[in-house]
Amino acid sequence: MQFSTRTSVNGRARAGCALLPVVAGKDLTAGGKAIDAAHGGRLAKALRTGDLPAKAGSTLLVQLDGALPRVLLVSMGETREGGDKSFGEAVRGALKAAGQLAADDAISLLHEAPVAARDTAWKLRAQVLTGRELAYRFEVLKTKRESQPVRPRRVVLPVEAAESGVAARAVAQAGAIADGVQMTRDLGNLPGNYCTPTYLADTAKKMAREFGLEAKVLDARQMQALKMGALLSVARGSVQPPKLIVLRYQGAGARQAPIALVGKGITFDSGGISLKPGLEMDEMKFDMCGAASVLGTMRAVAAMKLKINLVVVVPSAENMPGGRASKPGDIVASMSGQTVEILNTDAEGRLILCDALTYVQRFKPSTVIDVATLTGACVIALGHHHSGLFSPDDALAAELQEAGREIGDTCWRMPLDDEYQEQLKSPFADMANIGGRPAGSITAACFLSRFAKGYDWAHLDIAGTAWKSGANKGASGRPVPLLTRFLLARAQG
Ligand code: BES
Ligand code: MN
Ligand code: ZN
Repeated sequence: MQFSTRTSVNGRARAGCALLPVVAGKDLTAGGKAIDAAHGGRLAKALRTGDLPAKAGSTLLVQLDGALPRVLLVSMGETREGGDKSFGEAVRGALKAAGQLAADDAISLLHEAPVAARDTAWKLRAQVLTGRELAYRFEVLKTKRESQPVRPRRVVLPVEAAESGVAARAVAQAGAIADGVQMTRDLGNLPGNYCTPTYLADTAKKMAREFGLEAKVLDARQMQALKMGALLSVARGSVQPPKLIVLRYQGAGARQAPIALVGKGITFDSGGISLKPGLEMDEMKFDMCGAASVLGTMRAVAAMKLKINLVVVVPSAENMPGGRASKPGDIVASMSGQTVEILNTDAEGRLILCDALTYVQRFKPSTVIDVATLTGACVIALGHHHSGLFSPDDALAAELQEAGREIGDTCWRMPLDDEYQEQLKSPFADMANIGGRPAGSITAACFLSRFAKGYDWAHLDIAGTAWKSGANKGASGRPVPLLTRFLLARAQG
């Protein structure tokens, strides 16, 4: 689905379909009224039937003629001014209904409807992101195409001449974010026999060539030389070699400290010797969604040419129970020098991340955010709506929360008090890699906090938000919108 802006159409809309907002259950907006006038009041007449429910996202199809054969009247909700949620529902309802029509192109005036505290740019971005989300398919591994072709293929968003510059930029920005989300979803959906650490590294290098980024991939020997004993311990049970992927984007002066994103890249998590139960184990191919999301964010940032410096670090391995695999009770030395008793080989994410959090210090970053499908406990705590946010830094936490709310990819701050650190005590090593059942997502974050030294740090646990289970199983692309929005704000501030 392609989106573009153009200056207002003044009733002379030419398209397979027009998406027109209806506010307060009954009223057309200015652009809608102009189209209605050009078609003899047939839209107002259709509304008077009462056939359009006021619930946001309800639609009523009206047949017109000539250059505009049909219109979808789209309910924006009961009140005159909507909120983020009702606008989102309206856009989703409208684009889904339009997708059922034979129209190849559409013109949308949904952004004429008022949304509390949101400007036109926000409403345009929301339409692009939702449209691209709905149009997404992952069918490269099917030999027969099963789904309907994407409709509408093109969506025009008319805006006032005075707003055309801002609007075009907002649509381009949202397109870049959607491209990043799409890359993240593709990588997440690709199964473990395709998407190995080597495949992730090759994908990163390819993106680096495309966008002029600096790329470096460390292999096991180089990790050995750096004493990354924790990361290496996770890869031992697999025939797939581990990789540490580093991408650097320089959009600001060399003197400006970079922001670093670290993403968990377990391309399949069997649990290792602490083997997972069989039920839904296939979903552990998504255990590299943190990695995929930081790569997708890098793509969006590079495409937007943001004026920031960004480093992306992806520790990647496959967690398997081979003959050389780590065993419960094994003790490994991390790159930081701290030793870890591996009580459960299924708590492998923190083991690869801890060495990446130490490694990233060499870039002298001001801020480091790690992103990981880290704990099942986070899914129990927050379900599938908010990502878990952990940070000792109130200002950074607030920035991330605000970015998430702005773009509809939210996170919820969890506690990270020192009291929880107690649970990681080990009689044999500096710490254990698990802290027992209580507060499992918090003790995982506590573990990481012991390595996140020398910079401001936040951790996003995306175990509940990175993918959907069930009939519509698949990667969501989260938290690419949240991270990109955060970086956009940093670039402007
Ligand atoms: N990748 C999993 C976390 C996970 C589980 C994400 C389910 C999404 C859905 C992680 O490596 C893991 O296995 N964590 C363990 C930690 C435990 C052994 C302390 C978990 O959550 O059970
Ligand atoms: Mn695991
Ligand atoms: Zn895992």
